[in-house]
Amino acid sequence: MTQKFISIEGISKRFPATGGGTTTVFEDLWLPMERGTFTCIIGHSGCGKTTVLNVLAGLDRPSDGAVIVDNQAIEGPSLDRAVIFQSHALLPWLTVMGNVAYAVSSKWRGFSRAQVEEQAQKFIALVGLSGAERKRPAELSGGMKQRVGIARALSIAPKILLMDEPFSALDALTRGTLQDEVRRICLETGQTVFMITHDVDEAIYLADRIVLMTNGPQAVLAEIVDNPLPADRARNDVHKHPLYYAVRNHVVDFLVTRSKSYSDAGKAALDRRNPPLVRPGMPEPAVVGGDSLTSSWPGSSRPSTSQAG
Ligand SMILES: Nc1ncnc2c1ncn2[C@@H]1O[C@H](COP(=O)(O)OP(=O)(O)O)[C@@H](O)[C@H]1O
Ligand SMILES: [Mg+2]
Repeated sequence: MTQKFISIEGISKRFPATGGGTTTVFEDLWLPMERGTFTCIIGHSGCGKTTVLNVLAGLDRPSDGAVIVDNQAIEGPSLDRAVIFQSHALLPWLTVMGNVAYAVSSKWRGFSRAQVEEQAQKFIALVGLSGAERKRPAELSGGMKQRVGIARALSIAPKILLMDEPFSALDALTRGTLQDEVRRICLETGQTVFMITHDVDEAIYLADRIVLMTNGPQAVLAEIVDNPLPADRARNDVHKHPLYYAVRNHVVDFLVTRSKSYSDAGKAALDRRNPPLVRPGMPEPAVVGGDSLTSSWPGSSRPSTSQAG
């Protein structure tokens, strides 16, 4: 297994400030992600999460630092990295099949029409949309549209799936169902995922690691929370796990108080390259510094499935 399959290395983002000077949105972020892991990032609005995701996607460039994907620094957008935004971005004149097939044929230009449709069909079925292939986006509910977006993103076998609050516009019931689908598919396919959410429970259900980002400006990655819940957790009883409230309270406490109280000295004291790895609810040690890739939790490791592409 590649240890650092995806690696954020010292990225910062600065903008010209109104009235002169520069505003530093975030500074010197380092984050390694192993292949097949699900990382959620949580932080208050405006701290720079979407900017980080856009940098990962190659849609934006950092002012400093780089992102390495599978040993290569990224230079721009690529079909190696698929993005799902809060609201779907489907082509309204194409059917469900057309939207997914368009992505598949962009990725594999040599595919025959039959090969394209076979790959598209596989992912349409995976997200539960069999039978809706010939419908156009206007004929679909919000949840179905987001499913098409998920099928389209996964159909190109991306090295990383990037999601920016993908379920926040959906009603609670649909959101829950889609969380289940995404989690199942990502586990089955060994998909590496980076997702922004502001929903703590969603992060605890989906993520292997929850990255806590302080408020901006000059936001930093304060901690990486290692999710202690077992890999076979189910959405409906995740809250019954003995460690659930320890994790939840830790993340909520960060959002409510600690995210805004990082002083310059506190930030300076952080080892930026190795944000502290935190395991709420575990007896000892509470914080494992400097070793954010090599921890192991009984029952929390994900099956090591190989990934195409
Ligand atoms: N093009 C830009 N010029 C100036 N400031 C920007 C630009 N894009 C984003 N920002 C600022 O960067 C900060 C982080 O934005 P964003 O990444 O969208 O945060 P988040 O997704 O965490 O809410 C915000 O304060 C925003 O105003
Ligand atoms: Mg955002």
